[in-house]
Amino acid sequence: MNKRITTLTLLAALLLGLFALVPKLMELRLPGNDEGFEPNQPIAYSHRLHAGELGIDCQYCHSGAKRSRYAGIPSAAVCMNCHRFITASRSAVRAEEMLAEEQGREPNRVVSPELAKLYTAFGLGPDLLPDPALEPRPIEWTRIYSLPDFAVFDHRPHVYAGVACQKCHGPVETMERVRQVRSLSMGWCVNCHRSPQGAGVAVTQATIDCSACHY
Ligand code: HEC
Ligand code: HEC
Ligand code: HEC
Ligand code: HEC
Ligand code: HEC
Repeated sequence: MNKRITTLTLLAALLLGLFALVPKLMELRLPGNDEGFEPNQPIAYSHRLHAGELGIDCQYCHSGAKRSRYAGIPSAAVCMNCHRFITASRSAVRAEEMLAEEQGREPNRVVSPELAKLYTAFGLGPDLLPDPALEPRPIEWTRIYSLPDFAVFDHRPHVYAGVACQKCHGPVETMERVRQVRSLSMGWCVNCHRSPQGAGVAVTQATIDCSACHY
């Protein structure tokens, strides 16, 4: 929706004295705002493994969260910091080592099929060397959390106030595949803004001014 239509819509709502309807609006959920949405992703990347078991910090990959409106999805280059060296799970590597020992040969490099997709996206062939036939292209992750254009969310004030990622996204570090755990309704935002203490932060109130979230 473009900005002018948004402004007009909101103005009309105000002029008509629709404030009385705000409590009703708060319960409303627009289509596409799917609690429970858990799409398949192009690579079976696991938060349970990386953020849980390996303990990698959320902001190592989502570094935008304290710098910009968006937390951001890491590029394949961030994954390659590790996966240039780690080409398969420890257990798969160990299995190949044992087989090689039995057969009296050098172990081969094991490349997991899921990580092979990462290498292809990075323009690398099966030998992990640049393949001129492959054009590097971004991985097309399916977006999960998404607000309509007329509502503005910014990660920065939340991160600075100390609201944990998990308050809004749930225990991501236990999820094999990310699932949307909140409806993202207006009521959800406003209820916390009225009394954010439950979110474990020092501030006693956050804004409930319409123009903070709609502009
Ligand atoms: C090693 C990198 C990495 C780490 C560490 C990481 N993430 Fe992610 N995150 C990703 C990638 C890649 C995606 C996109 C694929 C997916 O949805 O699983 C993603 C997706 C997400 C999404 C869904 C985004 C959307 O489309 O709406 C949320 C929410 C999220 N991460 C939160 C977290 C939280 C919270 C932590 C820490 C507990 C964390 N992530 C740690 C890489 C990472
Ligand atoms: C800090 C290092 C690190 C980063 C960064 C990292 N990974 Fe990993 N990843 C690992 C380790 C270690 C394993 C193997 C764990 C095991 O032994 O099972 C792994 C395993 C995987 C696997 C499973 C492989 C298999 O077949 O079992 C996939 C898929 C994967 N990573 C994708 C990604 C993607 C995509 C990114 C970037 C968004 C990423 N990783 C970033 C360390 C990392
Ligand atoms: C106060 C609630 C809240 C907190 C705290 C929060 N998020 Fe979000 N996050 C959202 C909402 C709402 C969206 C959808 C925003 C949109 O569509 O513009 C979102 C979107 C995302 C996305 C996908 C789109 C993007 O912004 O790039 C990722 C990834 C993400 N969050 C990760 C994180 C991480 C990591 C943290 C902790 C550092 C965090 N979030 C903290 C509410 C929150
Ligand atoms: C779990 C609690 C919580 C939820 C949920 C939440 N917020 Fe916030 N929000 C806060 C806190 C705390 C602050 C920081 C207040 C401060 O620092 O004074 C904040 C600040 C903001 C600000 C900055 C206000 C300013 O004065 O600059 C905006 C905009 C905002 N939130 C929008 C949203 C939107 C949109 C949603 C829903 C999609 C949302 N918030 C959900 C707790 C929350
Ligand atoms: C803290 C952020 C925040 C504040 C403050 C806020 N809104 Fe919203 N509003 C939202 C979000 C987020 C949505 C999107 C809800 C959805 O997608 O279901 C929304 C949706 C709406 C809608 C569309 C219908 C609906 O409920 O989904 C209207 C109309 C609206 N807001 C009007 C207002 C008015 C008027 C005010 C001031 C009294 C206001 N909003 C204050 C965040 C906010």
